[in-house]
Amino acid sequence: MANILVLYYTQTGNTQKMAEAVVEGAKSVQGVTVELSYHVSSEALGEYDALLIGAPTYHHDMTAEIKTMFEEAAQKNVNLKGKIGAAFGSYGWSGEAPKLVLEIMKNKFAMNATEAPVLSKYAPDEATLQKCRELGIRVARAIPISSDSSRALFVQAEKNEEVKDNAKYACSVCGYVYDPILGDPDSGIQPGTPFEKLPENWVCPVCGASKDQFDRKN
Ligand SMILES: Cc1cc2nc3c(=O)[nH]c(=O)nc-3n(C[C@H](O)[C@H](O)[C@H](O)COP(=O)(O)O)c2cc1C
Repeated sequence: MANILVLYYTQTGNTQKMAEAVVEGAKSVQGVTVELSYHVSSEALGEYDALLIGAPTYHHDMTAEIKTMFEEAAQKNVNLKGKIGAAFGSYGWSGEAPKLVLEIMKNKFAMNATEAPVLSKYAPDEATLQKCRELGIRVARAIPISSDSSRALFVQAEKNEEVKDNAKYACSVCGYVYDPILGDPDSGIQPGTPFEKLPENWVCPVCGASKDQFDRKN
């Protein structure tokens, strides 16, 4: 299986909340395994197909733990070339850390790190958590299918059920938004399921409202 590491550091829990949302998104993509951790050895980095790093900004920098891990990986010539990289993190006023992580990924390790970082000013709100989930999904889907044949089967299945209608629908009772890209995995609804294709007995996962109580958003 293709595997993803979501590695984060946090002091007050804000980047951890983001990391958990990234994991939720990545796990909703079939054919990948996702590991959430706050420490791995620098050598272990080479075992993953994609690295998503959660880096809060302290003193205009990433924290020493993350920096040391990269320095050790460089000293030990850990080969990360071509692997997918992405970064996110909480900040208070300047938010440099995730951008620095991406620069190291690209310039030092020749990683494929093209995603813009997801930033959260202090604690992430629901919109930011949603961006984190979507980042996890995009990275999981971007893993080259050549890195794992079982992923290729899932990608083919996803293509067969291509999302024809990407419209989001909002629950008129509680405001929950159904996003076809995310689906509703907790209720057995796969990512990529258009609202129209939801079973008639599907209900809002937050408040239990029925499907006819949803309004199209776009
Ligand atoms: C000592 C200290 C230094 C900080 N330095 C910065 C900084 O240089 N730039 C910035 O944007 N935020 C800075 N912050 C704010 C943190 O990035 C912010 O509180 C963030 O939410 C922490 O994330 P975490 O909960 O994941 O640790 C600093 C906070 C502290 C306590």
